[in-house]
Amino acid sequence: MSTLKNDRYLRALLREPVDCTPVWLMRQAGRYLPEYKATRAQAGDFMSLCRNAELACEVTLQPLRRYDLDAAILFSDILTVPDAMGLGLSFGAGEGPKFARPIDSLSAVQNLPIPDPEVELQYVMNAVRTIRRELKGDVPLIGFSGSPWTLATYMVEGGSSKAFTKIKKMMYAEPQTLHLLLDKVAEAVILYLNAQIKAGAQSVMIFDTWGGVLAHRDYLDFSLQYMHKIVDGLIRENDGRKVPVTLFTKGGGLWLEQIANTGCDAVGLDWTVNLADAKAQVGHKVALQGNMDPSVLYASPERIEQEVRSILSDFGTGSGHVFNLGHGIHQDVPVESPKAFVDAIHHYSAPYHK
Ligand code: CP3
Repeated sequence: MSTLKNDRYLRALLREPVDCTPVWLMRQAGRYLPEYKATRAQAGDFMSLCRNAELACEVTLQPLRRYDLDAAILFSDILTVPDAMGLGLSFGAGEGPKFARPIDSLSAVQNLPIPDPEVELQYVMNAVRTIRRELKGDVPLIGFSGSPWTLATYMVEGGSSKAFTKIKKMMYAEPQTLHLLLDKVAEAVILYLNAQIKAGAQSVMIFDTWGGVLAHRDYLDFSLQYMHKIVDGLIRENDGRKVPVTLFTKGGGLWLEQIANTGCDAVGLDWTVNLADAKAQVGHKVALQGNMDPSVLYASPERIEQEVRSILSDFGTGSGHVFNLGHGIHQDVPVESPKAFVDAIHHYSAPYHK
């Protein structure tokens, strides 16, 4: 077992005692950091940055040099998996992601290959190995993937969407086609996350950014069912340590009970959920991650501190809380704000762990 200098993130996910509440930020490596923009310019474009293990490692470590974060997250993207399935991913300047060959028929789904993560996605595994080496055991490394539903929205819509009309049309007009797609993507994600774990990821998180756009029963059938399949297929212990799994559905506050029942270790919460209510509902089964509105980072350090203290008091005493934002950090927040946020969490949470 390789030792960690700071393992409070892993301990909190397993609801083991900690000295203070751990924190990391969703999208902590990114455009709000001038040094990220410089490295990205050096790489040329976003996918070239993801494919270069040394540069991906560099941007992973950048936020850790500035802030006292308790975890690093692999620098990559959720859309690497559909890209490896042959859909042809590109990021046009200021346009967001685009697929050259979106999924539009049953035969397109049937013809989709399941990528070998050590071949088509080897660049991701190389990044994981490089980052682990450079972290030198300071903090744990988080691996991640998109949920099958969230990945399928991009694969069917061909890019970002607001109304999700193409995938919802498939869901209601040709549900078997969508189920086959989700099943294949879930299979690909299991292989991908297990490969990340074998390469050195010490916990994994599944981002279900778009689960919240589904109707109640559709969420259970088309999103949660496939995340459950992934949880069942994951390696849960590696190198003598448990590998905790976090599920995050944005807008998933209505389904906390069902998410917690998948057997995951932790549930990520967006800012619409009250942490005290969530803890009362599922805190005996899972740890909770979240959940400050990312827009609070536009406020003064005093206002950020105030919000941190309110959220800490909502969770109250004991382990089982990983502090985070309720969604990714915005690209135009002042670089001083995450410092006020992280330092306030460590400082004000200590009394809750006595
Ligand atoms: O958290 C981290 O620091 C790790 C890196 C990470 C990125 N994307 C880097 C990235 C992670 C975990 C993701 C996940 C991701 N990617 C999600 C799920 C999480 C969420 O925020 O809901 C989604 C939906 C995507 C898909 C995606 N990737 C979109 C829609 C975009 C364009 C967004 C935009 O604002 O332009 C990306 C690109 C992307 N992924 C960037 C980064 C830092 C920006 C690319 C750039 O440098 O231009």
